[in-house]
Amino acid sequence: IRTYKIASIPGDGIGPEVVNVTIDVLKSLQDILGTYKLDFTELDWGTARYKKTGKYMPADGLDTLKTFDAGLFGAVGAPDVPDHISLWELLLAMRGPLQLYANVRPVKNFPNVPSLLKDVQDGDIDWVLVRENSEGEYCGQGGRTHRGTPWEIATEVSVFTHVGVERIMRFAFEIARSRPRKLLTVVTKSNAMRHGMVLWDEVAAEVAKDFPDVKWDKMLVDAMTVRMAAKPKSLDTIVGTNLHMDILSDLAAALAGSIGIAASSNLDPTRKNPSIFEPVHGSAFDITGKGVANPVATLWCASEMLAWIGEKEAAAILLQAVEDICSQGICTPDLGGNVGTIEFGQAVVQAIEKTVG
Ligand code: NAD
Ligand code: IPM
Ligand code: MN
Repeated sequence: IRTYKIASIPGDGIGPEVVNVTIDVLKSLQDILGTYKLDFTELDWGTARYKKTGKYMPADGLDTLKTFDAGLFGAVGAPDVPDHISLWELLLAMRGPLQLYANVRPVKNFPNVPSLLKDVQDGDIDWVLVRENSEGEYCGQGGRTHRGTPWEIATEVSVFTHVGVERIMRFAFEIARSRPRKLLTVVTKSNAMRHGMVLWDEVAAEVAKDFPDVKWDKMLVDAMTVRMAAKPKSLDTIVGTNLHMDILSDLAAALAGSIGIAASSNLDPTRKNPSIFEPVHGSAFDITGKGVANPVATLWCASEMLAWIGEKEAAAILLQAVEDICSQGICTPDLGGNVGTIEFGQAVVQAIEKTVG
């Protein structure tokens, strides 16, 4: 039987709630199909570990991760630890160093699920956001001088390399090419930011020459927010910088229904390192422990993970079951329903049993 080693990192807040349900669903799915097996190892990386040991992940954490085929991550962040510490010690400490440079964030409005947009038809929102995940605004460069004086200066430097921009651009063009509409929108802010953003525009035009079958256009990020809300059908695949796509992916999820549905794959397209799959949302302190967190984002991540490791049939069955259940009005309160996290997972398993027989 095909076996894959999966690291689960539930993390903080609602992370464990959505990851545990997802693992239960994955175990049922593999039992039903009987053609492959995911071998899970839970890693206790997160704020509880930090409070005990002073570290979010052990010193050899990245080497540990490299022994797995993939990772399933929940969320990190706690009310009593500054976010820039928790995130830079765990999540951002994996994405950059493992060179998970392509962050793929698909968003759809499921049939019958209320969208934030008026008059939106089923399927009008069907986007893949591709986020540069290793450099740009998140490169970690910057500093503070003259602290404690009115002359304090703080810099937050964005670094864009030709190699870094070109590889994400090629990756995005490939995704656009693989989808029926073959349409890519490149998001920048090259009117105000005249170095890195102009490099993005130039690289887009260069790479486009190798993809004559893909139709592409450019948008400034501010105008892009309007286009997403006003003309959702005019968009398909979207590529942009680390920060721009961080912001646009929350907007995309909300427009499609809820931040609770948006999945995110941190991919190493070279497949040297394991890719890590995580919901777009965070640890959601306001609903932690209430049993109402929407597990759709994490289940969708699980489907993306199955597809990435090669189990495409299982991936499709899982995503279809999630979509069908939501479309029947069986969903968590953020989507207007009244089921809890665990009940939702059980409904998905029942739907899978019905389809697979
Ligand atoms: P958040 O995504 O945690 O929550 C924003 C809002 O969306 C909250 O009202 C929350 O209840 C709701 N929400 C989020 N996920 C939901 C779900 N699955 N089901 C239903 N409702 C959901 O964002 P935030 O409040 O800005 O951040 C909280 C903490 O999480 C911070 O520490 C932040 O740094 C961290 N964070 C971590 C990640 C990550 O680990 N990938 C991502 C974003 C934020
Ligand atoms: C996300 C999150 C992270 C990001 C934060 C928590 C560092 O918002 O994955 O979208 O900005 O990448
Ligand atoms: Mn975000």
